[in-house]
Order: sequence, then C-alpha cells, then structure tokens
Amino acid sequence: MTPEFWQQRWQRGEIGWHSDAVNRHLTDYWPRLAVPKATCVLVPLCGKSLDMLWLAGEGYSVVGVELSATAAEAFFTENGLSPVVTDLAPYPFCCYHVDEIRLLVGDFFDLSAGALRAIGISRIDAVYDRAALVALPPELRARYAQCLAPLLRELPGGSAPVSLLVTFDYDQSRMPGPPFAVAAGEVQALFERDFRIDELTSFDVLPENPGLAARGLDRLAEHVYRLQMLGAA
Ligand SMILES: C[S@@+](CC[C@H](N)C(=O)[O-])C[C@H]1O[C@@H](n2cnc3c(N)ncnc32)[C@H](O)[C@@H]1O
Repeated sequence: MTPEFWQQRWQRGEIGWHSDAVNRHLTDYWPRLAVPKATCVLVPLCGKSLDMLWLAGEGYSVVGVELSATAAEAFFTENGLSPVVTDLAPYPFCCYHVDEIRLLVGDFFDLSAGALRAIGISRIDAVYDRAALVALPPELRARYAQCLAPLLRELPGGSAPVSLLVTFDYDQSRMPGPPFAVAAGEVQALFERDFRIDELTSFDVLPENPGLAARGLDRLAEHVYRLQMLGAA
C-alpha cells in the first residue's frame, strides 16, 4: 500500500473503516490496561478516529499519526475544534494541535523520538492500534513492529508501555487486503521479542461486516491483545 493509495482513499471519501462511534474494545478493555491518567498515548495510522477524542476525554495526552492532511482536517472540523498547525521541519511532519490532542500528519515510518520531542512529547506510555497493523501489507507490518519498539524504548514513561491491539483474522486467499488478516501466530512473531502478549478476547464479527462478507469472506474474527513492553521501567 503506497501513500498515494491512502491519499486517494481520503480524497474519494472511500473510508469504510471509519466509525461514527467510539470503538467498543477501547471502552471495554482500555480500563484493564491501567494506563495512568495524564500520560501519553500514541495512536499510529489514526485516520479521523473518534477513539482519540475518547482517550483525551479520559485524561490522556493523545498523539495520532496520519498520512492524510484531509483526515486530520476532517477530524478537527467535524469535532468543532480549531487546531494550531505547525510545520515541524526538518522533521517531515505537520502538527495539528488542540489541547491534549496532537495529530502528526506524515508517514508513520518517519516518526522519531526527535519529532515527538519537537512537539513536547518526551514519553510514550501506551499505544492504541485499531485498524493500523491490519491496514498494512506483510512487509510493512514487520517494519511497523520494528519502528514501534525502539520508539517506545527511546521515550520511556514511568512504567512499561502497554498497547491495545485490535486485529482481524480471516482466510486471506478469499480477499485481498486491506484490511489484511493478521493471525495470532503473526502477532507473536512480530512482537514477542519486545512485548509480553496476552490475547484479551476474540469475536466472530462477520455478521456485523456485511461489506466484507460480500467481498467473499466466510469467516472473520476480531482479536484484542494487550502488549506489555519487556524489560522497560
Ligand atoms: C484503515 S485506516 C484506520 C484509521 C483509524 N485507525 C481508525 O480506526 O479509523 C488506516 C489509516 O492509516 C493511514 N496510513 C496508512 N499508512 C500510513 C503511514 N505509513 N503513516 C501514517 N498513516 C498511514 C491511512 O491514511 C488511513 O487513514
């Protein structure tokens, strides 16, 4: 998936992944992670997700990362917010900022501790991934995992960073992604070097995704994981 693929999806309004409701796994399972309030949550590949508003409402400082400026602008406009926009050059990002929400427009794979420090973020305490890992083809999923762990290690919070990860699993031969199928074994392979991985729950979600059923799926499971960083403070 090239950046152009995603830019076009936003320009054409083809954003079937977006939900007008806060994700139920976030509201159900985030409290179990016991992430201290007033700490910082990274939301990779954030789109214009309302989940960021929920996290901010829970007292967290939120940093979303998103390729599309259209998505960022829609997020703020649709929620009645007027962001201050700053070019972070030499870092390849623009920062949209209102109160405790910062949205970095740029490529997640260019994200660095330096860019985060440039917007006043010196620690990441948690990560929320819904429809980020599964948006990426296999080679980029490996890169995503390789980017995330060093970033968290470079910006340590007061306790070991924890992630809530939501994935899809289905028969990949029935449909090209995105969303891609990411089986439990792949989650292990991607993250076990740096994280303790606990599966919190899984659901059959084919009935509530008729669009994906129409694309040929006969099975669709959603899995929710807790990833706790190993060897961190
Ligand atoms: C499937 S959507 C999920 C959006 C959001 N997480 C949600 O739950 O609504 C994936 C998003 O990631 C963005 N994206 C894809 N590749 C990216 C990258 N390398 N860096 C930053 N954003 C990216 C796309 O523009 C798109 O908005």
